[in-house]
Amino acid sequence: MITRNFFLYLSNNKFVKSKATKWGPKFGARSIIAGETIDEAINTVRNLNEQGMSGTVDHLGEFVTSREEALESANFCIRTLEAIAESKVDCHLSLKLTQLGLDVDRNLCRDNMMRILETADKHKIFVRIDMEDYAHLDATLEILHELRESFEGVGTAIQGYLYRAEKDTRDLKGVNLRLIKGAYKESPDVAYQNQEEVNRNYLNIIKAHLLSGSYTAVATHDHRIIDDVKAFVIEHGISNDKFEFQMLYGFRRELQVKIAKEGYKMRIYIPFGNDWFAFYMRRLAERPQNISFALRGLI
Ligand code: FDA
Repeated sequence: MITRNFFLYLSNNKFVKSKATKWGPKFGARSIIAGETIDEAINTVRNLNEQGMSGTVDHLGEFVTSREEALESANFCIRTLEAIAESKVDCHLSLKLTQLGLDVDRNLCRDNMMRILETADKHKIFVRIDMEDYAHLDATLEILHELRESFEGVGTAIQGYLYRAEKDTRDLKGVNLRLIKGAYKESPDVAYQNQEEVNRNYLNIIKAHLLSGSYTAVATHDHRIIDDVKAFVIEHGISNDKFEFQMLYGFRRELQVKIAKEGYKMRIYIPFGNDWFAFYMRRLAERPQNISFALRGLI
């Protein structure tokens, strides 16, 4: 679809991004980005905790091209973990390996992750490695395996649109996984293009991971998938402490509250920081209706 490709193109456009970042979060971005500072992110988590929901905060940032930027990004993650611990909010950390230097030097990225996990481990905070585009998949899984030799409190995300998702999910039996449909534009060589096929593969990996007894984070705004998962766990006697639902901050708020009130664990992914542009463009690409956010922001 032209709209989807257009927004995905913008999400990768460094020139437009640098201009937009200077303007600050506008055009509706504010309703899905929890502010620019750690304090603002923690306040948002606290509000959600009060409504019975958990959080995972993500300091937005992509296109890291130097060792200095990667180190600074890792230091920022560590400061965020300290703030989570100090404020005692119920919250995880989500991050992207490219922010920690994956494209600069793979070992630098792994060492940055080791430092982050030492702090996370000290405070018993779980760290989730977001999954990026297909070009970074193998390196992400390799680094995850290395990290898990020393730390248990780290997991990643698997994208249901990939043909190989089922194999990757099975290989990661026992690992706390976030399962998602997938947000990037991928070639038909590696990913389903048709929504029905994506949904089918997505449900397959959710069911396989749940049945293997592994902790499963079902991250979707799709009420049909959520209803299927609710029915599946009842049918198979899977208890509520073996899985959780996740949604993005600002999306389907009423449904988020409803799921939490029903007694399920509901975790909200809370992006913050001034590098919000690519994240926002990917959300517009996924769902053209999200453009109403942008229009509301303009008005
Ligand atoms: P999708 O967009 O396919 O919508 C399906 C249906 O749900 C719609 O037709 C509509 O009926 C309903 N619906 C959806 N959104 C709605 C709304 N706002 N209001 C009303 N109805 C709505 N991706 C990735 O590649 N790597 C990652 O690490 C992550 N991480 C991540 C974390 C979390 C917490 C979430 C929720 C998502 C991600 N994603 C991601 C993004 C993910 O891969 C996917 O692109 C989006 O979640 C969009 O797909 P959905 O499953 O939400 O529904």
